[in-house]
Amino acid sequence: MEPLWWQRGIVYQVYPRSFQDSDGDGIGDLPGILARLDYLRELGVDALWLSPIHPSPMKDFGYDVADYTAVDPVFGTLEDFDRLVAAAHARGIKVILDYVPNHTSDQHPWFQESRASRHNPKRDWYIWRDAPNNWLSNFGGSAWQLDPATGQYYYHAFLPEQPDLNWRNPAVVEAMMGVLRFWLERGVDGFRVDVLWHLIKDKDFQDNPPNADWREGMDPYNALVPLNTTDRPEVHDIVRAMRRLLDEFEERVLIGEIYLPLERLVQYYGADLEGAHLPFNFQLLSAPWDARHLAGLIAEYERLLPEGAWPNWVLGNHDRPRIASRVGAAQARAAAMLLLTLRGTPTLYYGDELGMANVPIAREAVQDPFEKRVPGIGLGRDPIRTPMQWSAEPNAGFTQGRPWLPLAGDYARVNVDAQRADARSMLSLYRKLIALRRAEPQLQLGSLEIIETRGDVLAYRRGEGFLVALNLGREPHRLPLSLSCAVALSTHLEREGERVEKRVELRPNEGLLVRLDDGGD
Ligand code: GLC
Ligand code: MG
Repeated sequence: MEPLWWQRGIVYQVYPRSFQDSDGDGIGDLPGILARLDYLRELGVDALWLSPIHPSPMKDFGYDVADYTAVDPVFGTLEDFDRLVAAAHARGIKVILDYVPNHTSDQHPWFQESRASRHNPKRDWYIWRDAPNNWLSNFGGSAWQLDPATGQYYYHAFLPEQPDLNWRNPAVVEAMMGVLRFWLERGVDGFRVDVLWHLIKDKDFQDNPPNADWREGMDPYNALVPLNTTDRPEVHDIVRAMRRLLDEFEERVLIGEIYLPLERLVQYYGADLEGAHLPFNFQLLSAPWDARHLAGLIAEYERLLPEGAWPNWVLGNHDRPRIASRVGAAQARAAAMLLLTLRGTPTLYYGDELGMANVPIAREAVQDPFEKRVPGIGLGRDPIRTPMQWSAEPNAGFTQGRPWLPLAGDYARVNVDAQRADARSMLSLYRKLIALRRAEPQLQLGSLEIIETRGDVLAYRRGEGFLVALNLGREPHRLPLSLSCAVALSTHLEREGERVEKRVELRPNEGLLVRLDDGGD
């Protein structure tokens, strides 16, 4: 079967508040993104995923939706959205929306009705109980909030301002499917579904068991094992219903945000692959940066993938530390090569293609509700949501106003303009890697076989034609080789075309993509 665009393609995540401001309010917006589409085309990505753009009190910066079928004025209008989609499509770029089905804003009219009285027809659209159990909020504290007006508690997996919808109620299912249809008919190419594994909770509200591995100082949410609040078997019925709806349209993609161990994660492809097309594989966000470990998880993922399921890999997102800070600037280059040469759809996070690092945020400047509620243990997400660095102009060309989060201190050097002009920059590396992946069907579709993990070296073949060798350490390494080949790309960007015979010499932190002789298509 012909591979689909999301199998061949590369997904690029934009956090709309931080990509490009067009009106000087210090917050990125849709016209801003539109103005930067040519950059994305130049970079070579195939799809743009936008974090939520809907009307929202912004308690969780858009992940608290007050109206699913409109655009928040801070980002623009529905017309701006239509223009963005048309302009993206004109450039061959797909548009993927964030869909937040687990919870609404407490300002959503549905919740306003639901909380109005115990007998309101929408009472059962949310999860109300007379007394709390031990369930915890992901953002600290109990997940139950007393609503004094009616004397009951409602469940919120995240902020109290984000009440969970009751997906056991068919009316909720219908209304939320209507939301998907609204955007599908408007021409969006797919959805990234927020916290998909959370949608269904235990119907008997049993307590969650304690986590024996939890210690004081760790994320308090992890004090319990979320057995009864997440990854419930019935969630798969909902995923299937979403997928059926998407299948009424052509080539739309269903991506799920799911943080689970691999053997649980792959269940979300669904029986007979009738679930999500791409349950996000987040392994690289937290894996120890160690060749043996990475090889192990690549092999485990390949082994666990159901027959016919399409793999995917994610290197960064708006919730987790940036890769350049996690593994260091030098290794971030190897990470780029890893992401873009693994088998499966890569997702990259805006700014990682420049090597943007976490930006320290002063305590009084904190915006993220997670950091405010669970302070001081490094969970805050502001550092990874700072404005995109376009140029050396004031505020890196992001805004004419006062940016909603501070710019990185190094933006005069680390920015698109500077890196465009530098043939060895991170941006140049990303562009070359992406161009190679686009040009070489074997890098998009070819098999993957791990051939070596020795010390710091991770090496694997892609199809018949390519070999990737990554030095994840600071010492030079030599990899013996029975085949002869030529360097297609070095992460140092200076060995292209060099012949390689009998062995590959890897410099510190170097990744090499080599083309094997007679291995072409
Ligand atoms: C997801 C989002 C995160 C948000 C949370 C609650 O994990 O990625 O940013 O805070 O859901 O909606
Ligand atoms: Mg703006």
